[in-house]
Amino acid sequence: MRKNIVAGNWKMNKTLPESVSLVKEIISLLNKENSLQAEVIVAPTYVSLYEVNKLLKGSKIKLSAQNSASEHSGAYTGEISAEMIKAVGCDYVILGHSERRAYYGERDAILTRKVEFALKNELEVIFCIGERLLEREKGEHFKVVEGQLKNTVFNLSENEFSNIIIAYEPIWAIGTGVTASSEQAQEMHAFIRKLITENYNTDVADNTTILYGGSCKPSNAVELFKNPDVDGGLIGGAALKAEDFVAIIKSF
Ligand code: 13P
Repeated sequence: MRKNIVAGNWKMNKTLPESVSLVKEIISLLNKENSLQAEVIVAPTYVSLYEVNKLLKGSKIKLSAQNSASEHSGAYTGEISAEMIKAVGCDYVILGHSERRAYYGERDAILTRKVEFALKNELEVIFCIGERLLEREKGEHFKVVEGQLKNTVFNLSENEFSNIIIAYEPIWAIGTGVTASSEQAQEMHAFIRKLITENYNTDVADNTTILYGGSCKPSNAVELFKNPDVDGGLIGGAALKAEDFVAIIKSF
C-alpha cells in the first residue's frame, strides 16, 4: 500500500549506547506530536537492532535492517539472514544501497536473491536504485534506473512486488550536500512509476511507495515531499540528529 514514509538509514554510525540515546530522543520528540503524516522507520546497525526494538515497543516507529544475506543459513561467516532480522523485530530491510553495490560488489543477481529471502521472511524491502554523476551527465540516468529495476524486482510477481518500496538515491547526491532539485526528483519518480505501470499495471504503480534519498535535510524536505510522486525520504546524515530527523518527518 502506498504511504508516506520517512526512514533513517544510520549506516555504520552509532555504538549501541549511542543508538539507544538517539532512538529515545526521537521517540520523545515524536511523542509531542499529535499526529504524523508519515510512517517513521529507523535502520540502526545490526548490533543495535535488539535493544532499539525493545525501545520502539509501543511507539509508532518501525524497525529496519540495512542489509540481509543472499542465503538462508549455514556456513556464511559474518552474514545475517533475513530470518534473523525478522526474528529480532524488523519489518523492513534496505537492499541494493549504492554503498553495498560499490564497496561490496553487490550485483543484480545477488540482490535478486537477497530480495527473495527477505520476502520469504515477510520483510518489506526498501530497494535502492540510482545513477552515478557521470551517467547523469551523459543523459543515461533513465536507462540506468530502468536496468536496475528490470534485472531485479521487476521479475517479481505482482503480489510479491506489493512488498517493495523503491528508494531513488542518485549517487551524486548521497552524503555530498548536493540534493537533486525538486524537479529532478519528481521527473525520475514519475518515470519510475511509469515503468511500474508498464511492467505491472496502473493499480500497482499507484500503490507503490517511492522514496527520495540523497542529502535530504530539514531545509529541502518540504520542497521534495510536495511532489506528487515523491512519497517520502530515505535519510542518511540528517537521520543521526533527532531534531533534524523529526523536522524532516514533520515536513509532510
Ligand atoms: P545522505 O542523506 O547522508 O545523503 O544519505 C542518503 C542515503 O544514502 C540514505 O540511504
